[in-house]
Amino acid sequence: MTNKKISINSDDGKSAEFEVLQGTHGPGCIDLTGLYSKLGYFTYDPGFGMTGSCKSGITFINGEEGILLHRGYPIDQLAEKSSYLEVCYLLLYGELPSTDEFASFSATIKNHTMVHENIRDFINGFRYDAHPMAMLVGTVGALSSFYHDSTDISNPEHREISAHRLIAKLPTIASYCYKHHRGLPFMYPDNSLGYTENFMQMMFSVPAQDYQHNPVAARALEVLLILHADHEQNASTSTVRLAGSSGANPFASIAAGIASLWGPAHGGANEAVVNMLENIYNSGETIETTIARAKDKNDPFRLMGFGHRVYKNFDPRAKIIAKLCHDLLDDLDGDQPMFDLARELEQATLADPYFQDRRLYPNVDFYSGIILRALNIPMNMFTVMFAMARTVGWISHWLEMHSDPEFRIGRPRQIYTGHATRDYPGAS
Ligand code: CMC
Repeated sequence: MTNKKISINSDDGKSAEFEVLQGTHGPGCIDLTGLYSKLGYFTYDPGFGMTGSCKSGITFINGEEGILLHRGYPIDQLAEKSSYLEVCYLLLYGELPSTDEFASFSATIKNHTMVHENIRDFINGFRYDAHPMAMLVGTVGALSSFYHDSTDISNPEHREISAHRLIAKLPTIASYCYKHHRGLPFMYPDNSLGYTENFMQMMFSVPAQDYQHNPVAARALEVLLILHADHEQNASTSTVRLAGSSGANPFASIAAGIASLWGPAHGGANEAVVNMLENIYNSGETIETTIARAKDKNDPFRLMGFGHRVYKNFDPRAKIIAKLCHDLLDDLDGDQPMFDLARELEQATLADPYFQDRRLYPNVDFYSGIILRALNIPMNMFTVMFAMARTVGWISHWLEMHSDPEFRIGRPRQIYTGHATRDYPGAS
């Protein structure tokens, strides 16, 4: 990929050259394939912060400059001009669809929006107070027991059908997790509606009365879905790739991704942000004490919605979301005091040397919870919303991995720090 090579000398006098690979954008990557056989060393990179685990043509992030591109298109342009389903097509197939391609893709997705009737029974089997993420991770994994006709991973048609199924069924399953939790009847999908409107209908309508659509709310949710659709090799996407690298079927691989997303350092952050803001609001704690706690190394508290492994300037999604939040709260009867508090907290951290020195800026989740609240989505559904949006990203990476000629099972190594070899008592 470049003519550049880097030599590494080992302490026992051996030397080996390694090629520097260069992608379309971004820094060069030293190809360390063969490092162990040539020099007898592994690499150590906890958290994989310096490790390129694959070649990918889907998403590019420049964390220093706050750039996010999907298939080359900047995220702000997609958020403004595109629809979620069009972004799904783009991520899956690499190009924006023509009018005919989009019509055919939408029809295919609509064709798969219903779930097997037994899946409704499966969800009803969860305890009434199960967390929606617990239901989601279980139900998506269980899809592999319902759709045997699309789990042959060596068959490209199977792989594509399972991708369509996952994108189409996630809103239906997500809404059923919510309805079960509330003890409300499940609503069937309505294929006369768009992707987002259909999800809102399944979430909020009941059979007893007509449902009034709110186009402002639907567009806000659509933008939120676009902003969460993919984000390169983050923890959950890497989990999907690693799970899938063993040959696991797509439903099981995506369920693994959902489990990874659940944690508060990743997709659980949107819920944690609103919890944090509510705590500050209700306890009357000042912004100053909250920031002081976040800086105190003896206090495990961190400012939720701040910081990012890759973005060290700003998260471009956070900028779009902050504006969306502003517009939405003007139009809907949103939570203005919570938004004002978030703004105040943001301003105070931006002026604080601790956050400046560590380059900690608001991330996508800082404002997304406030938007979801304004849309009447309950807090324990926030990470489910993230999972619904990210499913297309996960499955696009899974598909890309399966057509990559360099693809092999993922198997990191370690530095062993346990006991040296010793004898079992009585053994000589
Ligand atoms: N509040 C206070 N201090 C922080 C924060 C924070 N939110 N984030 C990082 N730091 C400090 C950290 O203590 C460390 O300080 P020091 O150098 O003195 O030890 C320094 O900044 C570097 O932090 P790190 O933990 O090494 O950074 P990381 O890249 O491993 O972690 C992160 C990234 C997102 C997990 C972390 O910033 C964090 O926990 N943020 C809060 C949770 C959050 O908002 N997560 C959503 C991420 S975006 C959406 C997604 O991808 O799912």
